[in-house]
Amino acid sequence: MQQIESSKEIQAFALESRRAGKSIALVPTMGFLHDGHLELMHKARAQADLVIVSIFINPIQFGPNEDLDRYPQDLEGDLNKCRAVGVDIVFTPTRQALYPESFQTSVEVTKITKCLCGAGRPTHFQGVTTVVSKLFNLTLPDTAFFGEKDFQQLAVIRRMVTDLSFPIKIIGVPIVRESDGLAMSSRNAYLPTKERKEASGIFAALSHAQNLYKQGHKESEELGQAVLKQLGEKIESPFQVEYIKIYDAWNLTEISGLITTPAVLLIAVHLAGTRLIDNLLLEN
Ligand code: PAJ
Repeated sequence: MQQIESSKEIQAFALESRRAGKSIALVPTMGFLHDGHLELMHKARAQADLVIVSIFINPIQFGPNEDLDRYPQDLEGDLNKCRAVGVDIVFTPTRQALYPESFQTSVEVTKITKCLCGAGRPTHFQGVTTVVSKLFNLTLPDTAFFGEKDFQQLAVIRRMVTDLSFPIKIIGVPIVRESDGLAMSSRNAYLPTKERKEASGIFAALSHAQNLYKQGHKESEELGQAVLKQLGEKIESPFQVEYIKIYDAWNLTEISGLITTPAVLLIAVHLAGTRLIDNLLLEN
């Protein structure tokens, strides 16, 4: 396994590999890798001749009062995990390498970025699509892997790839969960013991709504209320709910009233100052 920091070097490597007929899979990450990230890497490993993992805490996708300065890091641990999966290249650029002083371009998906996480984080997705475009141009992948944990991010990336005609196949990977159901996330490391236990309530509430759905409760508002009630059932709910929404799983538009298309139940909550997101498909 090779670690590359230079943009020029990785692009030259990617060009040479593509010319030699090798297929490339990219797994973009911000590091502090967990089993969710590793699942993406395993899928990539099974698919391509060369697997590139990028580790870069992308400053432009964080808002002014977010956790950029304390985002968890463990490069040594990450490199060992990548090695164990059989990754070929780990790309670890510096901020300066990706965003030199003269940098002034951004890539924006304009509509589906305004709702859900985009409502509370207005510049977030522009930061994501800009860095992912750059990573695509630097690593020239045939396929790129993204988790369904960030359901809206995956939809935004798919939109961008279609709209800008990137010759890249985007592969979505199902959410990997802890044994109590909590979706794995680098940010779970922020949770103190008590809140970490309480966090399992998020998946429990989503599963409750999914069960209701399977039993024939197909009204979007009723299911949303059921999630809210379940989360707040304890006298003092630890959760501050940012949103609980049901969206069409394909075109990411909100469903109100009767659910008649494949749908996804999405949630964002704050728990002890940590923002957590999760989602569950509503299927029969
Ligand atoms: P990060 O949060 O590090 O996540 C990297 C990738 O891992 C994303 O595609 C995310 O959806 C996926 N992932 C995270 N937790 C997962 C889980 N529990 N199960 C399955 N997949 C999971 O998402 C980002 O970084 C950044 O926005 C990035 C795309 C790298 C751009 O900076």
